[in-house]
Amino acid sequence: MGSIHDVVSLKPFSRRQLDGILDLAESFEDVARSNKQSSLLAGKVLATLFYEPSTRTRLSFESAMLRLGGQVLSVADALKTSSAWKGESLADTIRTVQNYADVIAIRHPGKWAAHNAAKHASIPVLNAGDNANEHPTQGLLDLLTVRRERGSIDGQTIVMVGDNKHCRSNHSFADGLANYDAKLILVNPPELALDPQHVEEIRGKGRLDVEETTDLAEALKQADVMYIVRIQKERYADPAEYERMKGSYKVDRAMLEAAGPNIAVMHPMPRVDELSSDVDDYPGACYFRQSFNGVLIRMALLGLVLGRADLP
Ligand code: NCD
Repeated sequence: MGSIHDVVSLKPFSRRQLDGILDLAESFEDVARSNKQSSLLAGKVLATLFYEPSTRTRLSFESAMLRLGGQVLSVADALKTSSAWKGESLADTIRTVQNYADVIAIRHPGKWAAHNAAKHASIPVLNAGDNANEHPTQGLLDLLTVRRERGSIDGQTIVMVGDNKHCRSNHSFADGLANYDAKLILVNPPELALDPQHVEEIRGKGRLDVEETTDLAEALKQADVMYIVRIQKERYADPAEYERMKGSYKVDRAMLEAAGPNIAVMHPMPRVDELSSDVDDYPGACYFRQSFNGVLIRMALLGLVLGRADLP
């Protein structure tokens, strides 16, 4: 198995690599919970360059680095506070930051920004979200969450609800799921459908059964996992279009209970109004455990790309 340098997309990863990353991630549980100290990444520096807002992704990257004994340089609002504001190109920023750090995690509003950054960088680049395109580290933590909540990914039926068109988390999660013998039911209003080419691509791997429907209640009857996301307001050029779509799907506890007692309810967060807070004490609600799993995944990826950990 070749070593992993950048993580800009989940598309090139094999099933063996994905399973290996999930196994490695789980080996960091005690360190992530602060029950054990680690100096695995001592002497290494992570730069987080975030040109779009974030709570979980940036902080869990930084938590992962710090808990493994590394250090962090952080630009949290880079469009305003970095030289991007003065008109500097991303390539020049990357060629500068690589003088100060050993790995970069970048979130950027440009569709191929992380891919481009990786082209210019001599150090590893981790894509923390590029516009509405991909979010591979989120896809990995979502795979890990399914495995931890349900015992395996194979055999599960995952109902993916909402803005399947614009939500990069859904895109990368679907890319990851394409490597497993599972079923994905995409539920959305027609305007929010996953790009048909992408549907063909994930079907094309020949493992994942993919269905599309607008009938949420029917889909939930089959669900082992429900994955729901907010409508991605910032991706709408026309605010009137967002207003029209707003509120087009909502899930509450009664709907889940009507479908079954045992559905794992996942959400990459943040939630707005698509998932009622009365779901929080539904037995399968696991979105806060899901955000903890982000620390495990990012520990594994930092260890791998910095050459301090190997896939088991
Ligand atoms: C997602 C994102 O930013 O793409 N959130 C996250 O990283 N946890 C999903 C979203 O913002 O809706």
